[in-house]
Amino acid sequence: MDATALYKFPSGLYVVCADDGEKAAGCVINTGLQLTSEPLQVQVVVNKGNFTEGAIARAGHFALSVLDERADMELIARFGFQSSADVDKFEGIECGRTELGDPHPIQAVCAVISCRVVKTLDVGTHTLFVGEVADAEVLSDETPLTYAYYHAVLKGKTPPKASSFVPGAEEPAGEDAPAAAAAGGLHHFRCTLCGYVYETEDEELPDDFTCPLCGVGKDLFEKID
Ligand SMILES: Cc1cc2nc3c(=O)[nH]c(=O)nc-3n(C[C@H](O)[C@H](O)[C@H](O)COP(=O)(O)O)c2cc1C
Repeated sequence: MDATALYKFPSGLYVVCADDGEKAAGCVINTGLQLTSEPLQVQVVVNKGNFTEGAIARAGHFALSVLDERADMELIARFGFQSSADVDKFEGIECGRTELGDPHPIQAVCAVISCRVVKTLDVGTHTLFVGEVADAEVLSDETPLTYAYYHAVLKGKTPPKASSFVPGAEEPAGEDAPAAAAAGGLHHFRCTLCGYVYETEDEELPDDFTCPLCGVGKDLFEKID
């Protein structure tokens, strides 16, 4: 079986957020999908190990933000490579709040859909939430961000808690280090978790080096030239 076949599934990238009254949480997902028109329903599938999964379950509602192509790895790393259990993901960025009370980022978001949870399905590692749309708003006409664009242009990686993570199926790392810089004696190290590329004149990373985007240590960096 070639599990990388599943990488051919086209999907968008979203940030799903919920505030249960105690704490606001949110994470990147690629599992947003419209289910029906009447009633207007969407789904999100969230890993049970993600703090956001519990927040949606407790709140009974969520805000689904559709990311657009203005999104950068900093925004993806903020919501997709750290946990709301440890940090306030909404601090320091422009945010809105739906009438149901869920926060959502505004930067690089082309639409926000506010939902009440009407069904929950346990699908093993993840929970599938069906949300009935209570409100929806278009924020911009920018092109929605696809998973393909995320891989090809942002050089992003798929973390283990993403629904689309396929154990053992390594994604292509990409060959994007600038040739001119390489010719000038610079070296590039890529974070295998979030895809961030660090450029340095040194042959090796210092032992205490950590990824400025997702925070992992030097061990998870690969030298690409
Ligand atoms: C590109 C990308 C796609 C992701 N897709 C999903 C997904 O569909 N479902 C999910 O539960 N987590 C997904 N994740 C992982 C979560 O965003 C990540 O585990 C996050 O740190 C959880 O944060 P939380 O603990 O605050 O909920 C994805 C992450 C990235 C970067």
